[in-house]
Amino acid sequence: MKKEKKQDDNKMEKIVSFCKRRGFVYPSSEIYGGFAAIYDFGPYGVELENNIKKFWWRYMVQLRDDIVGLDSSIFMHPKIWEASGHVSGFADPLVECKKCNARLRVDHLLEDVGVAADEKMSEKEINEIFLANKEKIKCTNCGKKDFTEVKKFNLLVKANLGNFTEDWTKDPAYLRGETCQGIYVNYKNVVDTTRVKIPFGIAQIGKAFRNEITARQFIFRTREFEQMEMQYFTEPENEMLEYEKLRAYRWQYYLDLGIKQENLKWLKHANLVFYAKEAYDIEYNFPFGYKELEGVHARGDYDLTQHSKFSGKDLSYNDPVSGKKYLPHIIESSVGVGRTLLAVLCDAYTEETVNGEERVVLKFAKNLAPVKIAVFPLLKNKPNLVAKAKEIFDSLKLDYMCEFDDNGNIGKRYRRQDEIGTPYCVTVDFETLEKDDSVTVRDRDSMKQERVKITELESFFAEKFKK
Ligand code: GAP
Repeated sequence: MKKEKKQDDNKMEKIVSFCKRRGFVYPSSEIYGGFAAIYDFGPYGVELENNIKKFWWRYMVQLRDDIVGLDSSIFMHPKIWEASGHVSGFADPLVECKKCNARLRVDHLLEDVGVAADEKMSEKEINEIFLANKEKIKCTNCGKKDFTEVKKFNLLVKANLGNFTEDWTKDPAYLRGETCQGIYVNYKNVVDTTRVKIPFGIAQIGKAFRNEITARQFIFRTREFEQMEMQYFTEPENEMLEYEKLRAYRWQYYLDLGIKQENLKWLKHANLVFYAKEAYDIEYNFPFGYKELEGVHARGDYDLTQHSKFSGKDLSYNDPVSGKKYLPHIIESSVGVGRTLLAVLCDAYTEETVNGEERVVLKFAKNLAPVKIAVFPLLKNKPNLVAKAKEIFDSLKLDYMCEFDDNGNIGKRYRRQDEIGTPYCVTVDFETLEKDDSVTVRDRDSMKQERVKITELESFFAEKFKK
C-alpha cells in the first residue's frame, strides 16, 4: 500500500516537473518567487488547453442542435452573488496551525482521518466535529497538532470596480466565482432573441476566481481557473429524465476525449444542498487519488427563483408547445479546463523502455496533441534537404499546428516530439530528393515508419486526423 502511494507521489512530482521542463505549465510570477495557487500555461500548455476547449465546444454546442453558446462578462451586478447565495454561503472552513501558520481546510483535514464534513454545517457545528477528532488531526505542513478555532472563510474575490471610495470593501464588486451565473441571468435574453425552445442548453467557457484556502495539488485547485459549463433548461417534470441523459452524454464525452475508462468513476453526493434533486461528480483517478473532475447536478428551479426574487423580474417561460407557463428547472455540467488538462496529462503520461532506452511519451488522443506534425530534414547541413522540409512544413502548417526541427540527431528529435505527444513526424531524406519524392512518416505510438508520397501527405493526414 505504502509503495503504491510512493509511486503515485513520484508520478505527481514527475508530471509537475515535466510540465515546467517541456513548456506546458509554469508557476505564475516565478521570477518574483511565485504567486500561490496561480499558474501560467506555456506554449504547449496553451495549445493543449485550446484543443480541450475546442473539443468541449464541439461536443456541447456544435454537435447539439438544442444547445447554444454564450460569453458573459467576468464582472456582474453584485446582487447576483447575493441571489445565488455566494455572499452568505460560499465559504470553506479554515484553521491555522499555531506552529507553522499554515492555513488548512478543515473538511480536507477531517477527510484525511475518515470523517466527512458537510458543506452546509455552521461554524459552530464544524468546530465541534473538529474538536471531537482533534487528537487524530495533524498539520499537513509541519505535523503538529495545535490549531486555532475553525473559521468559515468566504471564497468570493472582491474588487473595487467602479467604486472610488476609500472603504470600497463594504460595497464591493466580485470576480465571478462560477461562470454559470452569467448563463442564468441571460437565459431570458437567449429565449427572447433566438429560436431555442425548452428543453435547451446554454454553454459557456470562461475564467472564474475563488479565494481557495489551500494551494496544493498543482493545477487541480487554483485561485484563477477556467470553467466549461453547460446549463440545460427543462420542464419541471422532465428534469430527472434529462438529467440521466446528460449524465450518459458527459460520461461518453470523457471516453471520446481519450481518457481511460478504468480511471473514471461516478460519485453520488450523499449530502445534497437543500434545492438539489440529485448530484453526481465524475471523478478521475489522479496520482493523489480519485477526485472530482466534473459535477453533473440537478438544481431544480433554485437559480431562476432566486434571480426572479432579487431582480424583481418574471423569469418564467411561456411554453409555446404545451401552452403552460412555468419556471424552468436546470441541470448542469461543470468542469475546469485546467483540471481536465491535468487529468489528460496524467492519463497520457507513459514511460517506456525501447531498445534498452527510456522514452517518455504522451499518448493522448491525436486531436488533443499541441503539435500535430513535426517536420525534419534528415541533416541540418544539407541545404536541399532543409529547403524541401521547409516547403513541406509551410504547406502542412496551413491545416495543422506543426513544428520544424533540425536540431540534434534524428533519434533525439523523435524523443522530443514523443515527450510532447506529437502523433506524427515527417522526415525528408536523400531518397526524397534522389528517388521518389516521398518522405518517412513515423507514428508516435507504434514508432513504425512508412513512406508516403509528398503529393499524398494532405489526404494521408486528413484521414489520420478525421474526427
Ligand atoms: N457551477 C457549479 C460549480 O461551479 P464546482 O463543483 O464548484 O461547481 C465545478 O466547480 C468544476 O469546476 C469542478 O468540478 C472543477 O473541475 C472546476 N473547479 C472548481 N474549483 C476549481 C479550482 N479552484 N481550481 C480548478 N478547477 C476548479
